[in-house]
Amino acid sequence: MSKEKQPLKSGEKILFGIVAVFIGLAVIAYVALETYRMTRTDPLFENKTHYNFSEAGHLGSRLFREARCTACHRALRNGTNMGLSLDGVGSVRSLDWLVAFLADPEANYASRTLDHGPSPKEAAYVSEMPEEDRYAIAVFISELKAEQGSSSAAMPPEGRSDFIDNMVGAWAPADWKERFQDIRTKEAPEGASQGKPQSVSPETNESASSAQE
Ligand code: HEC
Repeated sequence: MSKEKQPLKSGEKILFGIVAVFIGLAVIAYVALETYRMTRTDPLFENKTHYNFSEAGHLGSRLFREARCTACHRALRNGTNMGLSLDGVGSVRSLDWLVAFLADPEANYASRTLDHGPSPKEAAYVSEMPEEDRYAIAVFISELKAEQGSSSAAMPPEGRSDFIDNMVGAWAPADWKERFQDIRTKEAPEGASQGKPQSVSPETNESASSAQE
């Protein structure tokens, strides 16, 4: 067998050339984007989650990390992106719900649980933690708030939005309007609201939705 080096054919040269150009462009774009991101003073995306911890919340934050919750969850914009992000959950769930969920997940979750619950589920250890540790963690999570209207908040943006009205008008089948209540006419869940609850009266909503038809 001869192992003599063969010169590249012109087709191969073109192919490798194109690949090299792509890799070069990707590297340049990455460096440019990172430089832009690092030299900006304000964040690239508007921040819609915030927190202001009580003493128990600080303790809970430490326990949350020590208990390896971050293996599956994201909080304070840290942790994995694989599981549920808990940033903003304090605006959707009440402290009582969180305490009850951590103690007895299956009895309190609306659908079947995947990881929380009795062993051999992977997060089975959570309900076996000392009660006061679980309580501090629940306080911590309840203090992770989201602004009204952000994707992790319980309530849509305050005030009327032409965009939402148009989407509802275009995409929601007529029978949904009979079967479901428009969340914008509901009160925010108790203990979960950050901004003021929506005060859209049913009349204004009715005229808005009939205007769509
Ligand atoms: C093995 C992965 C895993 C670990 C570890 C884990 N979780 Fe979870 N967590 C989940 C999954 C998945 C869900 C969704 C419910 C389910 O299917 O179990 C969830 C749901 C939750 C919820 C409910 C969120 C909501 O609003 O629906 C809370 C609160 C929570 N976890 C807190 C914790 C805390 C606190 C810890 C650490 C002590 C922890 N989790 C550790 C995977 C995990």
